[in-house]
Amino acid sequence: MWKEIEAAPADAILGLTEAFKKDTRFAKVNLGVGVYKDDEGNTPILDSVKAAEKRIIEIQNTKSYMPIAGEAAYGEEVQKMIFGSLCDRAETIHTPGGTGALRVAADLLAKFGSKTIWVSNPTWANHNNIFQAAGLTIKTYPYYDAKTKDLDADGFFAALEKIPADDCVLLHACCHNPSGVDLSTDQWKQVAQIAQKNGWFALVDFAYQGFGISLDADRIGVDELLKSGIDFFVASSFSKNFGLYRERTGALTAVAATPADAETAMSHMKATARVLYSNPPAHGGMIVTTILKDAELSKLWKSELDGMREHIAQARAALAEGLTARGVPMDCSFMTRQKGMFSFSGLTKDQVNFLKEEKAIYIVGSGRINVAGLTHGNLGFVCDAIAEAMKK
Ligand code: LMR
Repeated sequence: MWKEIEAAPADAILGLTEAFKKDTRFAKVNLGVGVYKDDEGNTPILDSVKAAEKRIIEIQNTKSYMPIAGEAAYGEEVQKMIFGSLCDRAETIHTPGGTGALRVAADLLAKFGSKTIWVSNPTWANHNNIFQAAGLTIKTYPYYDAKTKDLDADGFFAALEKIPADDCVLLHACCHNPSGVDLSTDQWKQVAQIAQKNGWFALVDFAYQGFGISLDADRIGVDELLKSGIDFFVASSFSKNFGLYRERTGALTAVAATPADAETAMSHMKATARVLYSNPPAHGGMIVTTILKDAELSKLWKSELDGMREHIAQARAALAEGLTARGVPMDCSFMTRQKGMFSFSGLTKDQVNFLKEEKAIYIVGSGRINVAGLTHGNLGFVCDAIAEAMKK
């Protein structure tokens, strides 16, 4: 079967980690995949997660199947997190990670929507793979202006105005991946207004709640869409904010016109999930529910989340300072304006290759640097190498 088949290319992000692991050079640094590292270069299990796991191990009494949609308590906690309170015209299912949520949404858009999805230029590389696999037609709208290293507001809004009714628009709730450029409250209001006027549908990728400004401030986009009354999906991931990467913990929330419509959406989310993966993996969802339902654990988790966000902000400032001190031919102030784990550095493909081949520093081909992977130990080496690459 495989003789005539060409091998698939390595994944643009996780493929880099595979290559990194095989690299035998001593001073190697992986700034590819979006994974948080502490100052020792570890991705620790949060204390709140460890405490929740202990409780779960003690009281868990079955490994029987989960409901297709996951436990109702999980869905309720997810809604409180993304909306600030429960929403009666929304239904939530527990999915294997944010990727699982996106795929369920994509299948539903292919079945019931216009089959066209608009994504920002640029966007997370895997968005294209997921939507393509579901049979959607992918179109792009302008988003990032490489000159100003900011939003191309004119291009963005002009393109949104032209998106026809029933098409779906993918939006990043916060910490835009890969650019780190987020919309202001006013800009979100404008997006919601256009969505309502044109009658398009939105899919909000919410993978970094709490990594931008705060858990609540990062919800502004979802809030504005909710107020506008449009139908939309929210794909949540708890890989980053709970550090549950390998537990594949996510959720898909459908917001519909009425509670009855949301129930219809729920029936189809379940039917789709059943075909794709049957029912969700339990452990990560149990951790999230245990933490969010317990005041003490919630408090601990929120302080750990704040700590991760502050650590990344410090790493951004240190990177910008380190590069400026090395005289790179670029104003680095944008690095501290960008939000989330990534800095869209402006490094070219050749420079990215140079860093990998000559310095064993791994960065995504688009020039996206995982700032959350910088430590005191590797910062100087990384700044030296990037400065050398930029001056070449
Ligand atoms: C990333 O963009 O690096 C993360 O979202 C991890 C992934 O699955 O690609």
